[in-house]
Amino acid sequence: MTIAPAPEGRAPLPLLSTGARHGSRSYMTCFFRCGNACDHPEPNPTEHGHIQDQVAKAVQRRAVLKGAAATSGALLVGSVLGTAAPAAAASGAPAGRPGGGASSGHLGRAAFSPVQPNKRDAVTTAAGFDHSVVIRWGDPVVPGAPAFDVHNQSAQAAMKQFGYNCDYVGVLPIEGDPKRALLVVNHEYTDENLMFPASRYSADEIKSIAMFNHGLSVVAIRRGLVPGSWYQESKLDATPYNRRIHIRTRFVLDGPAAGDDRLKTSSDPTGKSVLGTLNNCAGGTTPWGTVLSGEENFNQYFDKSGALDPRYTAQYARYGITGTGTKGWKDVDFRFDLTQEPHEPHRFGWIVEVDPFEPDSAPVKHTMLGRFKHEGANVAIADSGQVVAYMGDDERGDYIYKFVSKNKVAKGSSRAARTKNKKLLSQGTLYVAKFTGDGSEDNVYDGTGEWIPLCSDTESFVEGMSVADVLIFTRLAADKVGPTKMDRPEDVEVNPVNGKVYAALTNNSSRGSQSLPVDEANPVASSMVRSKLGAPLTSASGNRNGYVLEITPDDHAGTTFGWDLMLVCGDPAAAETYFGGFDKSKVSPISCPDNVAFDDDGNLWVSTDGNVLGSNDGIFRVPVAGPNRGQVLQFVTMPRGAEACGPLIADDSRSLFFAVQHPGEIDGATFENQASTWPHTDDFPRPSVVVAYRQR
Ligand code: FEO
Ligand code: CA
Ligand code: CA
Repeated sequence: MTIAPAPEGRAPLPLLSTGARHGSRSYMTCFFRCGNACDHPEPNPTEHGHIQDQVAKAVQRRAVLKGAAATSGALLVGSVLGTAAPAAAASGAPAGRPGGGASSGHLGRAAFSPVQPNKRDAVTTAAGFDHSVVIRWGDPVVPGAPAFDVHNQSAQAAMKQFGYNCDYVGVLPIEGDPKRALLVVNHEYTDENLMFPASRYSADEIKSIAMFNHGLSVVAIRRGLVPGSWYQESKLDATPYNRRIHIRTRFVLDGPAAGDDRLKTSSDPTGKSVLGTLNNCAGGTTPWGTVLSGEENFNQYFDKSGALDPRYTAQYARYGITGTGTKGWKDVDFRFDLTQEPHEPHRFGWIVEVDPFEPDSAPVKHTMLGRFKHEGANVAIADSGQVVAYMGDDERGDYIYKFVSKNKVAKGSSRAARTKNKKLLSQGTLYVAKFTGDGSEDNVYDGTGEWIPLCSDTESFVEGMSVADVLIFTRLAADKVGPTKMDRPEDVEVNPVNGKVYAALTNNSSRGSQSLPVDEANPVASSMVRSKLGAPLTSASGNRNGYVLEITPDDHAGTTFGWDLMLVCGDPAAAETYFGGFDKSKVSPISCPDNVAFDDDGNLWVSTDGNVLGSNDGIFRVPVAGPNRGQVLQFVTMPRGAEACGPLIADDSRSLFFAVQHPGEIDGATFENQASTWPHTDDFPRPSVVVAYRQR
């Protein structure tokens, strides 16, 4: 690729259309993050996938529901390896072990008054808690990185600095170095309107700098004096691990589809080597100390200079690849021109695995986990020792998937065990979920479900499609077997205490339309929303506030499960809302759940993206068992225009890490006319990772 030359006058910034959005997200967010996906019909044209069991007739019914389904007794999951478990984080303590009493700063046990909905340009934590910015966009990551200067950005600098729009947050303990840990963060997308002063950079220069602001960062962090607080390690070479993974980092394609002709390009005739990763949204930390990251809205990066390859008309359409990408990157790198490189988009849309403890290793794109708009992947270990990865395809009307490994996890953290475990995601079976409602008599949105196999590493279970067909064009394969069309499946993650699986279903403005009728797992066709704080609730078509789905597997490696909608989100005053059976007069309003996390008592923590109740986004704590099941309490609110991402409870549940993504991304904002200046260190906003903890 070409790195853009020196600036040459005013750079034309992307043009934004205007008008009402489907949610509260600004036109800027829709344009830059997903290429205005909601402006197009949902790309799943199939007609299956609706339970149609009479129960779920649009929604206005009050869900007077019973408690959780019985816990399966055979669901021990979590940190069986002792290190690097997501919930154990930097202390190395196994998930599920008590971390002390309420006075210890344990966030799962702390009593707090919920933060009230607000529109402040601030991170606001519950009274009694503090927060610190750990690292900001532009901060140096690797030795030799220049200090950030927004007026003198370059691709060469960006490849050494913390990227834009942080999303997934992983924190991994470093064996033998208890004062430090590794922070691993996704950089999902860029907002050129907010990042670049007008008249300073050329159009090509903006594209090149934006490219290098994508990817991931690996950053050493150090404990602060206050328990639960963390800061960026000021010595960038204090550990050997700091790393920027960017658009020029070489990835290895692995698994059954690697080397397939449809993954080959002029610069990679092997079909096994890809430069870069794009639109990395959520992710998961594996028990063997690696990070999984989902390539989500990759379609928007591809343009065309002529006709599209007719061999892939149906495949492109199903992935929203139209050749009218909004980034213009083909102007600086021809591989983003579909006319020249029709296979390049097939090399994105995967789950990638990064080993932060081997900074020279090539990250891996796992074809065995299928190709779609991956939100993320979260791993559990079944009783059998097989590894199970749960995954969502974030599109209106798309599906929930899981992968079950062929081989069993190797215990311990030796190099030999890690080497073996890093191959677990290369062989196994890929499944897609079908949800069946059990009817209205029980007055509960619940039922049973089935994991439908799509393929193993050696055998396809979809008629007319090979293993490689299934893996490269997973959406088309799934369409053939009758899974359930969901309302934007985002994070899907196992609670390490009760073994149940929780899925955030953000929203679906099309639910209830002819193409997406309601069913018991997707029952809301009309939602109560609020245009701004203090305004009355009004009705809007579709599912605008989202759900949290609770899945009770019979066995993580098995093919059957029970399910219920634990949260039907929205304002508690709205009839359609439901909070796990908890008193609706005593919960916080919640809208558009996106990412989920758990403390070591098993409480659910939910972050939101696109609140349609007039407030900024935030993060909420929700007990999933006992008398307080469903007690949604807001713990923190985001600055103006920002989405809350990547919540992670770490350090014996004393630290809540999260990413403040796209602060100030509000229609009309420009670099010169910002809607936010958070974190208030400059006169422009800087997406950043934050940690919250109890005040000393
Ligand atoms: Fe990047 Fe599905 O949110
Ligand atoms: Ca029911
Ligand atoms: Ca997300």
